[in-house]
Amino acid sequence: MSAIDIPASWRTAAEQILKQQWHRILVIGATDRGKSTYCGFLGQTLSAAGLKVAFVDADVGQKDVGPPATISLAYFDEALELSQTPLAALYFVGAVSPIGHFLPVVVGTKRMVEAAQASFVIIDTSGLVTGSGRVLKAFQIDSLCPQVIVALEKEQELGPIIRACRNYNMIRLRSSPQTKAKPIHIRRAAREQAFRTYFKDAKEHRLRLRQLVIQRGVVSTRLANHLLCGLADSQGEGLGLAIVRKVDFRRGTVSLLTPVARQAIRILQFGDLYLRADGSELPSSSQGARSSAK
Ligand SMILES: Nc1ncnc2c1ncn2[C@@H]1O[C@H](COP(=O)(O)OP(=O)(O)O)[C@@H](O)[C@H]1O
Ligand SMILES: [Mg+2]
Repeated sequence: MSAIDIPASWRTAAEQILKQQWHRILVIGATDRGKSTYCGFLGQTLSAAGLKVAFVDADVGQKDVGPPATISLAYFDEALELSQTPLAALYFVGAVSPIGHFLPVVVGTKRMVEAAQASFVIIDTSGLVTGSGRVLKAFQIDSLCPQVIVALEKEQELGPIIRACRNYNMIRLRSSPQTKAKPIHIRRAAREQAFRTYFKDAKEHRLRLRQLVIQRGVVSTRLANHLLCGLADSQGEGLGLAIVRKVDFRRGTVSLLTPVARQAIRILQFGDLYLRADGSELPSSSQGARSSAK
């Protein structure tokens, strides 16, 4: 943590959260405002006080824990950086931007918060805070009922969101002057790398469509090569991700590239993203992506 600038207000906020026992902490802010950095700092501070602290990562495009296109749950470990924390559970969103996917983002965040078994839960969110992002934040707040909202700002850019939730405990913090903006191509490369790492030891499994519960779409119109899918067990608990490698409609089978063990797979959820095995994204309109399954 030594390279990180910790403004005095960040420390005071952590102390206040601990003193007030605000167990459910929602962190909001535009992109590159230091949300992840603050979550890491707060998690380490609370862990150092001997508390069990959960982290719910709801920033689907720039994840700290777990693969992109998911909401994930992890537990802070004093000895580990946030990005090294092992994944405890996940919920498939199916896209790397919340735009057009508010429902799985809101539902998934709530599910992960409810699954957390810890004294404190820190929830990180996407940087979408303008336009429809205000709607997303309003419903995330409504669904999670956080005991405190930590708002990280450079100027006063969260004003409209904050005004609409003045009934909540709110801590407004300034971003550190050391915060660095990441250009779009860097964000995309980080995502690609995260997918590549996730699928590094993946294996291909051929499964019978009849034996799967298909969710979030219809096989005949949606199932195509390269489609990113979520896998869940019979209880609906997220197991991981898969990329469709081959669909054989005649035999009624689908081949999936996934690091998930095949025995537990019961549910296949269609996403809205097409990926190559190396983690690079294909344009969703790509005819190549769709027609090659046929
Ligand atoms: N307090 C800080 N001290 C040093 N660097 C920081 C600090 N806050 C953010 N940064 C840097 O700025 C960049 C964006 O911060 P990050 O926490 O990833 O923002 P966000 O999660 O809001 O997108 C990262 O490279 C991060 O290391
Ligand atoms: Mg972040």
